[in-house]
Amino acid sequence: MKLNLGGALLFAAAHLTACSSHEEASLISSELIEGDALPVPLTQSIGDGDEGRQVFQSREQGHCVLCHQIQNLNAEFQGNLGPDLTEVGSRLTPGQIRLRIIDYERVLSGVTMPSYYRVHDLNQVGDDYENQSVLTAQQVEDLVVFLSEQKGN
Ligand code: HEC
Repeated sequence: MKLNLGGALLFAAAHLTACSSHEEASLISSELIEGDALPVPLTQSIGDGDEGRQVFQSREQGHCVLCHQIQNLNAEFQGNLGPDLTEVGSRLTPGQIRLRIIDYERVLSGVTMPSYYRVHDLNQVGDDYENQSVLTAQQVEDLVVFLSEQKGN
């Protein structure tokens, strides 16, 4: 079956408008989620692992190294609040990794891991950031490819 993601995003946009501004709204239609995974990519084109590495390390973008470490990653400081991701590509499918980056709350409630593709309480963000997620769809897909490649050595 071919899924029409454009339609899914439209659906989500309509849902967003209907939500009260106090709620946190997701950009993803729950109909696309299978168990603890989102198997459908957010973009038409496949992600780029090298770009994903940049996002993972960059202070301005994902800054995932604040909480995670990957052995052999050339990063100055890597945190340990979150799990070691050296072998995450063996542990999780791309779809599972995708949903965890997008919105971990959909996998497990009360998680520490921030949601990177969700619109947060619209009362708390400045006008410039309204309706913007932390990462772009492309950056999420780049991270999915990069992390899927991490199978230890
Ligand atoms: C504030 C700390 C923090 C940051 C920043 C963070 N994470 Fe996490 N992450 C966690 C924690 C903690 C968990 C374990 C689940 C939980 O309790 O939240 C986790 C879990 C995960 C998992 C699942 C790992 C597994 O083995 O099940 C993935 C994949 C992941 N994070 C990717 C990322 C990516 C990619 C970024 C950057 C875009 C990121 N994380 C940023 C704290 C963080």
